[in-house]
Amino acid sequence: MLTFVFIQSGHLNSKSVLYYFCIMKHKGIILAGGAGTRLYPASLPISKILLPVYDKPMIYYPLSVLISAGIDEILIITNKRDEENFKYTLGDGSKFGVKIQYKIQQIPKGVAESLLIAEDFLQNHPLVLILGDNIFYGGNFNKILKKAITDNKYATIFGCYSKTPQKFGVIELDEYGNVISIEEKPKKPKSNYAVSGLYIYNNDAVRLAKQLVPSVRGELEITDLNNLYLNLFELKAVLFEKDIFWQDTGTFDSMLEAALFIKNEECKTGQKIGCIEEAAIKTGFISQEKCFENISIYPKNQYYDYVYQFEGDKKYV
Ligand code: TTP
Repeated sequence: MLTFVFIQSGHLNSKSVLYYFCIMKHKGIILAGGAGTRLYPASLPISKILLPVYDKPMIYYPLSVLISAGIDEILIITNKRDEENFKYTLGDGSKFGVKIQYKIQQIPKGVAESLLIAEDFLQNHPLVLILGDNIFYGGNFNKILKKAITDNKYATIFGCYSKTPQKFGVIELDEYGNVISIEEKPKKPKSNYAVSGLYIYNNDAVRLAKQLVPSVRGELEITDLNNLYLNLFELKAVLFEKDIFWQDTGTFDSMLEAALFIKNEECKTGQKIGCIEEAAIKTGFISQEKCFENISIYPKNQYYDYVYQFEGDKKYV
């Protein structure tokens, strides 16, 4: 879908003319394949991205990030075994006012392979890619992400402060905040800013991903794609303040830490984190009435109560 922007301008020729051009809207990709070996045997019966993090499946968190950012065409990349479970959980997205499609990654060949898998879905659109096991919350996160999407020219990554950056890709910055390099799991990290699992790319991403070669671990690395952007075009890094919570939930401890954080925060604020229904209503993707109609089939529990009462005064249908 295209958004037309009309601009009144008198600069391009002698007459004042109305120029218009098209801005392709961003599509979203959630990468929910992977092997989940670090969570074995918890991830044995089902994809780790469907395991609960406190009160909802892990995928609710990245999905609500995309929906809150105003993205309404979303591709979920999963493995063959779990595809039906994802479809059962989220369907075609219509109950949240979005379009969800699914594609399979046959074997986990790296995060950057998602762009090759998504080529037909993207149809040359710019995109936001989020890893299925990444949770973001708090501060001005939604505002910052929306601005970064609007401002993105080539590629944008998000740096999160980490006490153990050596476990991630690490961003090296110059004194002006420009990215100098990204190093994958360096022994001596050049900063405390880890590259989180959220990326914005323009429509060069698929073409560039096709130039990547597998790393020594046999994967198409997202760090290599980011370095291509850095060398050929521009790679922007948005650094999150410490008030933004970021957790990669790929290990037992980090998943439990995320769950405890979410429980405490939800109890403290009375606000749910990663509630897709709330995100969809707030973004205007579905009306409250439609949402209430959809949730009328949910079992009446704490989640139901929250969604149903989130605007205040309605009674049970
Ligand atoms: P990882 O946590 O790096 O990998 P994994 O999920 O396979 O887990 P483990 O290391 O414990 O075996 O993946 C981060 C996210 O990216 C996660 O949501 C799964 C997803 N992913 C894919 O979908 N395909 C891939 O090829 C890879 C490497 C990851």
